[in-house]
Amino acid sequence: MNRNKTILEAHALRRHYQVKRGLFRAPAIVKAVDGASFTVTAGRTLAVVGESGCGKSTLARLLTRIEAPTDGALLFAGRDVTAVPKTQEKALRRAVQMVFQNPYGSLNPRQKVADILAEPLLINTGMPRAERRDRAVAMMAKVGLRPDQADRYPHMFSGGQRQRIAIARALMLDPRVVVADEPVSALDISIQAQVLNLMMDLQDELGLAYVFISHDLSVVRHIADEVMVMYLGRPVEQGPKDAIFADPRHPYTKALLAAMPRVHRGGAPEVTPLTGELPSPMDPPPGCTFHKRCPLAQPRCAAEVPEARALDGRVVACHLA
Ligand SMILES: Nc1ncnc2c1ncn2[C@@H]1O[C@H](COP(=O)(O)OP(=O)(O)OP(=O)(O)O)[C@@H](O)[C@H]1O
Ligand SMILES: [Mg+2]
Repeated sequence: MNRNKTILEAHALRRHYQVKRGLFRAPAIVKAVDGASFTVTAGRTLAVVGESGCGKSTLARLLTRIEAPTDGALLFAGRDVTAVPKTQEKALRRAVQMVFQNPYGSLNPRQKVADILAEPLLINTGMPRAERRDRAVAMMAKVGLRPDQADRYPHMFSGGQRQRIAIARALMLDPRVVVADEPVSALDISIQAQVLNLMMDLQDELGLAYVFISHDLSVVRHIADEVMVMYLGRPVEQGPKDAIFADPRHPYTKALLAAMPRVHRGGAPEVTPLTGELPSPMDPPPGCTFHKRCPLAQPRCAAEVPEARALDGRVVACHLA
């Protein structure tokens, strides 16, 4: 199991949407993801954080190839995913799986758990029915469900159990990467920890890479190895979790951490919490898109887009960091 090897690489990934603005206005471009570069490592967790609308779910759809990027490159195990031959396309899609926030919406209410879990095998393999069922039941045990629950329907489970089912389903085809979009946000706090611990155990056992999307920094602090902070479609700071939490360098990261309850924050310095509204990604401010909310902003920030640059063991996109 190639732990600590780069499994996914994104280079300047972009996803722009054209949106209509009524009869007499030109369509607008929403830059949902606008130049994201990062790597995902086997056996490790990259947490993607940022306010609502900053492009987290769009990024998840690009990584799982539900959508194609407008621009940029995505490499899986060193190979450009847009250039794989048709014959290997299916294997590639299997290798990156998704877990969604809402296990009510993502599980078919009319299917029994065993059938939900066996379905990816039915679609993707020639495995006989009995073996599919055995695999499904074995996976239930792996995620902490009982084999005698195999013939129950999703509504007969609690929210936490349903998220276990969603995780189990994502693992049926033996993926290398799991992209989890707010997987515990809908759960009670006490249940969140159980599901996070399960995910961490599975990662250890299977050498999985996680892209873990969350707006909740206390969850991120618990599960992440690396952190990528996004603002209006762009990563503004990324690096090892400990560096980011102990010594954030981007004013936006500082503000996000300052908004966290003290107990979760550890040694993070006291700074002014975030004020002002998130600008629309249809009409982002020029220069650094954060400058209008930034307590440190200088004239340069309104004029020049800051390049991402290496600084003290992380990458920061800020003129003043
Ligand atoms: N299919 C689409 N067409 C047009 N705009 C879109 C589309 N999908 C997303 N967007 C826009 O792109 C931006 C990023 O959306 P996205 O859902 O990726 O954000 P997010 O960070 O996941 O937010 P949240 O935390 O609320 O889930 C938003 O402004 C959103 O309205
Ligand atoms: Mg989202």
